[in-house]
Amino acid sequence: MDKLIDKHGRQISYLRLAVTDRCNLRCQYCMPENGIDIVHRNELLTYKEMYRITRVLSELGVDKVRLTGGEPFVRKDFISFLESLSFNKSLKEINITTNGALISKHIDKLEEIKINAVNLSIDSLDRKKFFEITRRDVFPQVFETYQDLLKSNLKLKLNVVIQSGVNTDEIIDFIELTKNDKVSVRFIEEMPFNGKGQRQVREVWNYNKILKTINSHYSDVETLISQKSSTSKNFKINGYKGTFGIIPAFTRTICTDCNRIRITATGLFKNCLFDDGVFNIKNFIRNGASDDELKQLFISTVQQKPENGFIAEANRKNTKVSESMSTIGG
Ligand code: GTP
Ligand code: 5AD
Ligand code: SF4
Repeated sequence: MDKLIDKHGRQISYLRLAVTDRCNLRCQYCMPENGIDIVHRNELLTYKEMYRITRVLSELGVDKVRLTGGEPFVRKDFISFLESLSFNKSLKEINITTNGALISKHIDKLEEIKINAVNLSIDSLDRKKFFEITRRDVFPQVFETYQDLLKSNLKLKLNVVIQSGVNTDEIIDFIELTKNDKVSVRFIEEMPFNGKGQRQVREVWNYNKILKTINSHYSDVETLISQKSSTSKNFKINGYKGTFGIIPAFTRTICTDCNRIRITATGLFKNCLFDDGVFNIKNFIRNGASDDELKQLFISTVQQKPENGFIAEANRKNTKVSESMSTIGG
């Protein structure tokens, strides 16, 4: 089987596929209050196109797909699309990253079609603060989703973007959730993908500062062995049921073992979160490309994957990192 291997010897096995650029929330670190310019429906890949792209990539060794957005559940018929993906037996894992506001009624179905894991974004456990961060008063719905997911057999991670002066005082509260809940809480360094470029922060909350804060509160933090390509470095408090992790998304110390590519909702192929996109697959497909042509394109494009996110950023033609995470897909 042909494989996707870059010139640094990394094999690509994980596709992050954004199904929409729309979102039902307006997180401060992701987009301005009045949203971003969303694209016309014709500009989006159809589910049929996404299914085909995923199948071709799975024939090249991709065995894990994460569906992201925007918010994936705002796209019509998303569940049927998931169901169709679940028929592709080359995929060992089909996972979803969601804000959870719309999903509690779908959890049974997600279990039925063998979705492996859900990463739920939740940046505060306080309703008022949650509203300030997301500009939508949906904490009760999201927390209900959290509780329903805990009862399900889906693996569950919480994504908490650490925002200076906003939710840093909740780090310990989040870790305390892992005392009785079988969940993995991951603290994420904030990145400048907010629709307007670099954001002014009072204090830089990077990986080291987050870990130091945790170590100054607990004397029994255990370091766990993580999967090689994991985005998070993982830990647990001795005796607690769950675990926690820190994702150095901005300081980018995870690049050496990166196994990811991204496809945005409009079909832009990205070798790295920080690059500005390599080519648009949608045009290629709509011009009649065969599966073999698609494969060759993927194989040669992946070879060019930048060594790390700093090089990817330096190589951008569009110099500023100013897109919204909802157009990139996280
Ligand atoms: P798992 O598959 O469960 O490990 O999830 P994940 O961490 O790959 O995906 P998720 O969608 O939950 O992303 C969590 C955070 O990690 C988000 O802020 C992502 O933007 C960030 N992230 C994911 N992949 C990468 C990456 O390749 N590079 C960097 N710098 N950040 C990433
Ligand atoms: N910095 C860090 N993480 C972000 N996410 C969205 N925008 C940012 C940002 N600017 C996170 C979301 C979600 C994941 C896909 O990416 O909270 O959990
Ligand atoms: Fe991979 Fe780029 Fe993320 Fe580094 S910054 S882990 S190379 S996607």
